[in-house]
Amino acid sequence: MKQINKVEWQPGNLLYPLPAVMVSCGSNPEEYNIITISWTGTINTSPPMVYISVRPERHSYKIIKKNKAFVINLTTDKLAYATDFNGIKSGKGMNKFQESRLSPVPTRKINSVLIGESPVNIECKVTQIIPLGSHDMFIAEVVNINVDEKLIDPKTKKLRLDKANLLSYSHGFYYILGKRIGHFGWSVKKNKSETGK
Ligand SMILES: Cc1cc2nc3c(=O)[nH]c(=O)nc-3n(C[C@H](O)[C@H](O)[C@H](O)COP(=O)(O)O)c2cc1C
Repeated sequence: MKQINKVEWQPGNLLYPLPAVMVSCGSNPEEYNIITISWTGTINTSPPMVYISVRPERHSYKIIKKNKAFVINLTTDKLAYATDFNGIKSGKGMNKFQESRLSPVPTRKINSVLIGESPVNIECKVTQIIPLGSHDMFIAEVVNINVDEKLIDPKTKKLRLDKANLLSYSHGFYYILGKRIGHFGWSVKKNKSETGK
């Protein structure tokens, strides 16, 4: 039998890579806040649903709970510094939009603000809050999405998310997505070229 050497590791959070998103919240300028979140993901296709897990002691926690709304703002190389800053500093007694030079833009469908500089803003309406232990899980329905028009190909009208330089987070470090090596379904295609052409 092939010998594979493994070291037993303590059970913990090692599911990486993850996104590092900036979640914005608040229904009025006094309340507007930003929290960096990595415990987040897609949990349903139709209706589109996502979750974020937030510690109850975070300043954002009660704002999201009160308004039953938040926006997941995707982050990029240009937003990496602000992403880290908003994941270290608390908005208690600080205007994080001003401090990180980001523009608060009110949304139309939910009680929350979005981050103008983010290329994709996912507007979410909270449907359930599940206490899990250290974190509460906010389950939410995606009710609207705003996309930077620069990411839409003028000819094909397709969304070019690959041009966004999206940020990811893995075990304490931030990364920009690297080399593209395949496309959906590529492994079973007759023509196995990476681009599918
Ligand atoms: C990369 C990164 C990921 C984080 N992910 C989470 C998370 O998923 N849930 C959470 O409650 N806090 C998370 N934090 C910590 C909060 O962002 C941090 O405590 C922040 O200061 C809270 O802001 P607030 O008090 O203004 O809400 C993360 C921080 C960083 C840097």
